[in-house]
Order: sequence, then C-alpha cells, then structure tokens
Amino acid sequence: MASTTAHQLVVVLLVRALPVAMSACTSEVFPSGKTYVTCQDLPELGAALHWTYYADASGPSLSLAFVAAPAAPGGWVAWGINPTGGNGMVGTQALLAFVAGGASSSASTPTVRTYNITSYYAVGAASTPIAFPATGLAADDVGSGGRIRLYATLKLDEGMKVVNQVWQVGSSVTRGAPDVHAMAPENLAAMGKLVLTVGAAASPPAHAGGQSSDRSSSWPPSGRQIPRAAGTHRVSPTAHVVLALLGFWAMVG
Ligand SMILES: *[C@@H]1O[C@H](CO)[C@@H](O)[C@H](O)[C@H]1NC(C)=O
Repeated sequence: MASTTAHQLVVVLLVRALPVAMSACTSEVFPSGKTYVTCQDLPELGAALHWTYYADASGPSLSLAFVAAPAAPGGWVAWGINPTGGNGMVGTQALLAFVAGGASSSASTPTVRTYNITSYYAVGAASTPIAFPATGLAADDVGSGGRIRLYATLKLDEGMKVVNQVWQVGSSVTRGAPDVHAMAPENLAAMGKLVLTVGAAASPPAHAGGQSSDRSSSWPPSGRQIPRAAGTHRVSPTAHVVLALLGFWAMVG
C-alpha cells in the first residue's frame, strides 16, 4: 500500500516536472548576439520574458526579449511596464510587435511600436512616446506565423527594483493598428511583478544561480555579453526527479 502511494507520488512529481523541462524558456534559441541572464515563463498566454538588468554610467537598463504567439496569425504581442497604475493595463508603457499589414500582408518581419496606454480603447497605428527610452527595438517571427520575439532595451529610472509587468496577445491588426485583445480570464490575468536584480536571476528562484555572485554595479562590462546560463534552467526539473526518487526510496525502505 505504501509502495503504491510512493509510486503515485513519483509519477505525480515527474509529470509536474515535465512542463518545466519543456518550458518556453529552456527551448528558446536566439540569434547570435542576443543573450539574456534570466528567463521567466510568464503564467498566462504561453509567454516568456528573457531579460538582463544592468547598470552603467548612464543608469539602469533592462535588455529584454518577450516571446509569445499572437492570438491568431496576423495578430500582435505586447509587453510593458506599468509604473503608476498598479497592475492594470492603463498606464502601461508598452512595446507591441506585429506585422503592420496584418494577416494579409506580404511582409513577414514584425515591427515594434511603443505605446503609452492611456485607455482601454484600441491603440492607433503610430507609436506614442513612453516614459522609458527604448532602443534596439526589433522583432522576429519564429516558424512563419508562430511566435513573435520582441527585442528591446529600456532605460529605467534609478530605484526601480520591483516593477509591474503587463503582457498581452491580440488576434488582428487593422490598417496598421492593433485591434483590442480578447477579455478571457487569461488575458485579464496577464500581469505580475518583475523583480530586477543586477546580473542575477530573481524570480522564480529556480532560475537563479550561475551569475548570482556577479553583482558589480557596472554589469555587464561594456562590449561583453554573458551567455544565458542554459544549464541552470534545467536544475529545477532534475532536482524534482532526484527528490522524487529519494522520497520513493525512503518510503519503500
Ligand atoms: C502618457 O499618458 C499620460 C496620460 O495622458 C500622460 O500623463 C503621460 O505624461 C504620458 N507619458 C509620456 C511619456 O508621454
């Protein structure tokens, strides 16, 4: 009886570990030159945020790649920081990526626009200024109509340690302007905290590791990219399996 229960426990833990092992974070392969210290599988909409937070002489910056699939081919993906309005959408300083012509466009490389989200109405076709100077805006489309990867570096304010992040996906773009997204529970829940720590993974803890000893204020040194520590992302499921087996042996023995 105890053995059966232990077996069930092992199976449950293994099954729980699998989605982590196959997460969007661990499987993403970026073009050369794009590396990020930390990755977070976001809890809604199948999205992931890869990021490096660093400070140099001009202040703190967040280099990021946001990865998500539009709600339908020809749709859009978005990620942003809401510095004022709690977790909500209004007030978000957003980055949106989409193919400007929508599904009918012959173009395939998505463009990135910035939007200061001031209402729940659809944003327009043109970028609006956002509070965080954005550079390196680019996007690519993985697997023709699959996921869009949005790249940017945002110059943040001093003292921003925990920010409200908001992300979203939409299904269509009309005459160059992203249409409003669905209001399903997962759309409305797509927000949370992002803990910014120089050179180290902060959330979730399973992703911390390799870089945590490097906390110099001028990280990363100019001209040097520290590769994403892919190995650390696999520690968690492995640990789960080891713990599961130890628990199994303990209960059987
Ligand atoms: C964003 O919009 C709000 C509301 O209109 C405005 O107060 C704020 O200054 C805008 N931010 C930027 C960076 O333009």
